Amino acid sequence: MDSGGRPPAPGSDGPQRPSSEKGHAQGRLERVRAAAAALATKGTAGIRALVRRVEQTPPPPGPFRPGFWRSPIRGPWLTSVFGLVLLVGIPILFVTGALSYAAYNPGLGTLNDQTPDKGLLGFYLFDWPTHPYWLYRLTQGVHVTLGVVLVPVVLAKLWSVIPKLFEWPPARSAAQALERLSLLALVGGVVFEFVTGILNIQLYYVFPGSFYTLHFYGAWVFIAAFVVHASLKLRRMTRALRSRNLLTEMRTGLDDTQPEPPDPDGLVALGPAAPTTTRRGALAMVGGGSLLLLVVTAGQSIGGRLRGTALLAPHNRDPGSGPNGFQINKTAAAVGINPAHVGPDWRLEIHGPGPMLVLTRAQLLAMPQHAAALPIACVEGWSTPDQRWNGLRLADLAALAGIPDAGSVLVESVQPPGPYSSVVLRGNQIHDPRSLLALRVNGADLSLDHGYPARVIVPANPGVNNTKWVHRLTFRT
Ligand code: HEM
Repeated sequence: MDSGGRPPAPGSDGPQRPSSEKGHAQGRLERVRAAAAALATKGTAGIRALVRRVEQTPPPPGPFRPGFWRSPIRGPWLTSVFGLVLLVGIPILFVTGALSYAAYNPGLGTLNDQTPDKGLLGFYLFDWPTHPYWLYRLTQGVHVTLGVVLVPVVLAKLWSVIPKLFEWPPARSAAQALERLSLLALVGGVVFEFVTGILNIQLYYVFPGSFYTLHFYGAWVFIAAFVVHASLKLRRMTRALRSRNLLTEMRTGLDDTQPEPPDPDGLVALGPAAPTTTRRGALAMVGGGSLLLLVVTAGQSIGGRLRGTALLAPHNRDPGSGPNGFQINKTAAAVGINPAHVGPDWRLEIHGPGPMLVLTRAQLLAMPQHAAALPIACVEGWSTPDQRWNGLRLADLAALAGIPDAGSVLVESVQPPGPYSSVVLRGNQIHDPRSLLALRVNGADLSLDHGYPARVIVPANPGVNNTKWVHRLTFRT
């Protein structure tokens, strides 16, 4: 009788079984193994047959046919030149983007953190410093400007490899299928990151969720695919770059422009058309496009006279004159500030372990005032030159609250609840002597759009975390 269905006695494992039972079990195991092997052989044979059938099917018409792509300048050399630029540019883009997330001090809780479920992806986060005071202005200016400048290079790179995206059959082996899937993450990732980034800096918020969360997760998918791709192609790129001389290409005219030798990778056209441009022309067009974008973008971060050249900056190219004549992200009207909340009845509440303090603006102005020269640097990449702020040191207000060594402060605005209507600042930010609850700027009262009656200004802090229209500070250990 087969004992296969019988459950083993508690505590009875292999070595304690009677030898006949052991023999049955062994036999059963072998039968299962044989069945599995037969299935695997059948499965592999099935897949092979399927691949053979697809291989024998002629490619669909159009871009899947090898003769469709006829540019005589497309080839591994040109692809590798664009690849080399991206090899330098994309890591800088990724690192500055990752720093932008750290700058919000997401470790301080969900008020500061748009991606609280990030898990291990937040492994690198650290306490954002206040030195140098222009740190965020630099990192975010580089991130946005470089992102815009690389657009022509990414487009040119995709153009240069487009025949590969239509390769037929789609995959010849499991390994190749995997590689092509990684290309989906690479190409999809680069398009997603660039499109979401550019929509954001143009203030076109059409995202089905938080931009930060989408851009953050998208960046990790893209960079993983990028690292795999760059590692797989590094040797190919080096070989291709050595195959032609850049200076010679720069001197080669249309009449002498020849296709690269046929390559096993299928980038070089099988039936090239007569050239209508040179490789020099292609590089000049892409380089010129990037240069043009640099000129019409960088001014928004550099400022001064160049601000007028920032034609792609969506707003505030001319923020007016006078002490309050510098850039604003959101006006009081745009966020729905109720004028009654910032009028004569406005009060500042200070909470801490001691009794709550309630102060009028006149009382705040009567206290010892301090000055700091700091810029506003926005996540959208624009920034202002240093402005001269006057007000009370956050450290002094912490002492007033009865907690001179405060480890954090919750800053709340009168603006209606929503993202960035309140923020938490860390101890190092409170205790930097340049961190102020500002009441005046450049010798005048703050304008309503710059946060009247009082706003926070902290060195190296992202603009949205320099909360405007502050009405409550809660200091904690
Ligand atoms: C935004 C980043 C990038 C994108 C979207 C991208 C996209 C692609 C795609 C879709 C292909 C065709 C893949 C295939 O079927 O073999 C390809 C090929 C290639 N890529 Fe990239 N790439 C990027 C960055 C880079 C970088 C940084 C390098 C340098 C290491 C590089 C070097 C190459 C080379 C040499 C080829 C041609 C390989 C061949 O001849 O098969 N790429 N790229």
